[in-house]
Amino acid sequence: MVVVDNLSMGAIYNIHHRDQVTIYIQDVRNEKFMQQLLQEEQPDYIYYLAAVASVADSIERPAETHAVNHTAVFNMLEYIRKTNLPIKQFLFTSSAAVYGNLPELPKHEDSRVDPVSPYAIDKYATERFVLAYGALYDLPTVCVRFFNVYGPGQNPKSPYSGVLSILTDCLKNNKTFTRYGDGTQTRDFVFVEDVIEALWLITTHHVRREVINIANGNENSLNKVIQIYEAVADQSLKLKEAPGRGGEVKRSVASISRLVDLGYTTHWSLKAGLAAYWEGVSHAASRN
Ligand code: UD1
Repeated sequence: MVVVDNLSMGAIYNIHHRDQVTIYIQDVRNEKFMQQLLQEEQPDYIYYLAAVASVADSIERPAETHAVNHTAVFNMLEYIRKTNLPIKQFLFTSSAAVYGNLPELPKHEDSRVDPVSPYAIDKYATERFVLAYGALYDLPTVCVRFFNVYGPGQNPKSPYSGVLSILTDCLKNNKTFTRYGDGTQTRDFVFVEDVIEALWLITTHHVRREVINIANGNENSLNKVIQIYEAVADQSLKLKEAPGRGGEVKRSVASISRLVDLGYTTHWSLKAGLAAYWEGVSHAASRN
């Protein structure tokens, strides 16, 4: 297995079985490097997970995030097409952010989209390229829409980090958490091990030319998440309020019926996932 990561948010210690993995500390925008790597490795399966994952960051730095979240992916697809690289699957990770604020809930894969941030626009545009390249050039491509993924090892160090990594850091280190908005915004939080299972199912079923939601299927407000986490950690959170962030989605929850058709069941309730996160563990033995 080969991993490319510029470690802007990731960490080497999160990669287990390091003797079986070749790691390149490189940026996906380095086109020459990526092309050379594809030629040398001739990979069967490509999981395109690299991204600047923050909606708020994309609003601060739209040009830079566009280069990572769109152009780098497009360049790789184009190289695969031009060189007829014999891949078995190219899986692009898109986002629930593409659905935006339209009222239909839960979000089905064929629900209307309304991307409202540079992040969401890049994810949606890239999805369309990935699917069109599949259809036009007969490439085995597939897209997934991640809802809010969380789990041990997530980096809390940036103000743009995922909210559960920041909450964990605040509870563990007695720091003050800044809540943007009134906390009634909702998300569908999915534990990282469930995400891995979903990806595995999509690969083993050779799914192509489709978009699939990856989520837990439950809607929780930020306030509710804080309440559950305080109980799990047996701590009370120091909280400061700030105005809501622009470009954000108010409510988010997925229909996971397509994944369920492939054999998916969620093994982690939010409470069980938060307990595992709090303990810093992530292994099958602690499943609920
Ligand atoms: C997250 C992911 C994004 C993914 C999307 C899918 C991150 C950084 N973002 O975006 O990659 O595509 O889910 O749904 O992992 N909040 C606070 N205080 C904080 C941080 C956040 O109140 O210190 C609030 C935010 O304003 C937001 C909610 O918590 O309302 C969730 O924020 P965040 O974790 O950044 O996730 P999304 O924007 O949903």
